[in-house]
Amino acid sequence: MEVIIKKDYDEVCSESAAIIEKAWRQKKNLVLGFATGKTPLGLYENLIGLYRQGRIDFAEVAAFNLDEYVGLEESHPQSFAHYMDHHLFRYINIKRENIFRLSGRPADIDEHCRAYERKTRDSGGIDIQILGIGKNGHLAFNEPGSSLSSRTRLKILTQETVLANRPFFQDEKEVPRFCLTMGIGTILETKMALLLASGKDKAEITARAVEGPVTASVPASALQLHARAKFVIDEAAASGLANRDYYRWAYENKDRTLEPLKITPLKTKG
Ligand code: PGA
Repeated sequence: MEVIIKKDYDEVCSESAAIIEKAWRQKKNLVLGFATGKTPLGLYENLIGLYRQGRIDFAEVAAFNLDEYVGLEESHPQSFAHYMDHHLFRYINIKRENIFRLSGRPADIDEHCRAYERKTRDSGGIDIQILGIGKNGHLAFNEPGSSLSSRTRLKILTQETVLANRPFFQDEKEVPRFCLTMGIGTILETKMALLLASGKDKAEITARAVEGPVTASVPASALQLHARAKFVIDEAAASGLANRDYYRWAYENKDRTLEPLKITPLKTKG
């Protein structure tokens, strides 16, 4: 696991975009997994900027969405399909046929989830899965208690999520109670997990996910088992990490195998 600590949210987003740009230069048909929420919005703005500058082209890129509310049409303003279109896809040249989504209204939920997993495998696997972290440690809609080997499946939403969504729907009956989400086991099979976190209110849970025990009670802690997980976080979100000086040191020196190491004064101890 690599922890990359940047000054602030803007730097978290530009660093994450640079990681994606670098991967794209090596593989033009990159397979990206996308997440919703507030945190990745700045990353998506950066990706649009890179596209407009001609530094990334999405013509061969494939996209998979992490999760979706059950019951909503793709066009519903609260659907994750709508979120991705609205914040990224409509501004770049990704091909519609290369966008794969969990549907909010599948005829057969279990078969739809299995087919989604097959599609990720048929695409060669997700190269970079973008992720956020919930304040309770959730990863996608894998809430605390989710099996660490879970696959894409139906999940019941937490009461907090149902209540928080209530104002966005005219009729209470429309408010989603269930979702489809990639499982933790599914996420662990991606080739790179790129988790973004920003702000003081993510500090405690980020520390538990990175430095605490691996536990289903903190689903994001499962990323400690991921072969290539990167946490790109700002100073505020990093403030609870015991080993943050080491993470900074490792990041500053990781490409200096043939040069003298940079010795930086320790900031958090003494
Ligand atoms: P946020 O959500 O980016 O809106 O904080 C993250 C998450 O719940 O995964």
